[in-house]
Amino acid sequence: MSVTESPMYPYSPGLEGVPAGISRISDIDSDRSSLQYRGYDVHDLARHGCYEETAYLLLFEKLPTQKELSSFKELLGKEREVPEGVYQALSALPKTAHPMDSIRTGFSVLAAFDPDYTSPSTDHEANLRKAVRIIAKAGTMVANGHRIRQGKSPKKPDPNLSIAGSFLHLMSDDPVDSYTELVMDASLTLYAEHGFNASTFANRVTVSTLSDLYSGIVSGISTLRGPLHGGANEEAIKMILQIGEPSNAEAWIRDALATKKKIMGFGHREYKHGDSRAFYMSEVAKEIGRRKGITKYGEIADTLERVMKEEKNIFPNVDFPTGYAYYLLGIPVDLYTPIFVTSRVAGYCAHAIEQLSNNRLIRPKAIYEGHKNLKYIPVQDR
Ligand SMILES: CC(C)(COP(=O)(O)OP(=O)(O)OC[C@H]1O[C@@H](n2cnc3c(N)ncnc32)[C@H](O)[C@@H]1OP(=O)(O)O)[C@@H](O)C(=O)NCCC(=O)NCCS
Repeated sequence: MSVTESPMYPYSPGLEGVPAGISRISDIDSDRSSLQYRGYDVHDLARHGCYEETAYLLLFEKLPTQKELSSFKELLGKEREVPEGVYQALSALPKTAHPMDSIRTGFSVLAAFDPDYTSPSTDHEANLRKAVRIIAKAGTMVANGHRIRQGKSPKKPDPNLSIAGSFLHLMSDDPVDSYTELVMDASLTLYAEHGFNASTFANRVTVSTLSDLYSGIVSGISTLRGPLHGGANEEAIKMILQIGEPSNAEAWIRDALATKKKIMGFGHREYKHGDSRAFYMSEVAKEIGRRKGITKYGEIADTLERVMKEEKNIFPNVDFPTGYAYYLLGIPVDLYTPIFVTSRVAGYCAHAIEQLSNNRLIRPKAIYEGHKNLKYIPVQDR
């Protein structure tokens, strides 16, 4: 941690290493490169569970029984449809709008359609109902927003599919194979929650003013959009595509480092020995490559990872393998960060509910370094 001493306060730029609140939702152990959601290792959840189980765990603070999971999935299925008014708003956007702007707009409009719209922001039960609707509809808005942008009409979601399956079904007219659904589901589980990252923190700041859950989601999405955060999965695959062939990779990365380029999909504020989520996602991404007979992206990734470790001791984060995994699944690149939203809304909702259950307005202090006590001169005399 770099802490600068100011005359009055110790200060850490970017709030690096500064505790900003108490949470019981997820734990990042940087030394062990481990991430746990409410005490459960994310690898166990991604490998053996499903995204709905993780969403339930984040919201209701325990793993569901089989019966609870079935009812939760049924409820999510019933809540999956999106009001026509949201589609009308998305249709009014220019076709050039980035899908992140579309999903952010979608949530802004959706807020007013929620049956609990007028409930006080501290109503815990209403917040849980809103959270279920938000989680259920996010993938529908991303996929149908994409259809609208292509000049197609929105497709009716199938309530009997999983969240991952429903998203893929809305995206494609072809049947979805089970491994594709498994990859999407694993990525949603791994993206669901990650402590006080920038967008979750923005979401908590918003609801700490007693604003509502949807406003928190909109703040979160706005913050996730940047390439230093969620946007990195799109930038990572663009970089791999630019490299093109495994034989170009070593020279490309060495040149990029020599010219001080940031390598997207590498590095993390919290993990200095590797992002735990990247380990499983890399395994899955390579497996899709093998199944599709396209192993070159995995080979490029191996070279970049080796040189980054040798030269900078920096490791890939989850966005790196997820970028080429989604590409191999045939998903348009500008939907990668919106898919991240589809998953992360579960974490945002859990954090908003936690914040509101024991709220204190988040209002830090600035260290003022500007002028003081200047004499005001009327404009005609300046
Ligand atoms: C995520 C990130 C912002 C974390 O940054 P941070 O904790 O603030 O670390 P810093 O940016 O201070 O980097 C520390 C050092 O590592 C280097 N570094 C960090 N990430 C790097 C990367 N992706 N490529 C090249 N160098 C990197 C920095 O240049 C810096 O080197 P220096 O000390 O010689 O100046 C940063 O690693 C990054 O920009 N990564 C690329 C974007 C990305 O993948 N984001 C998704 C995060 S999940």
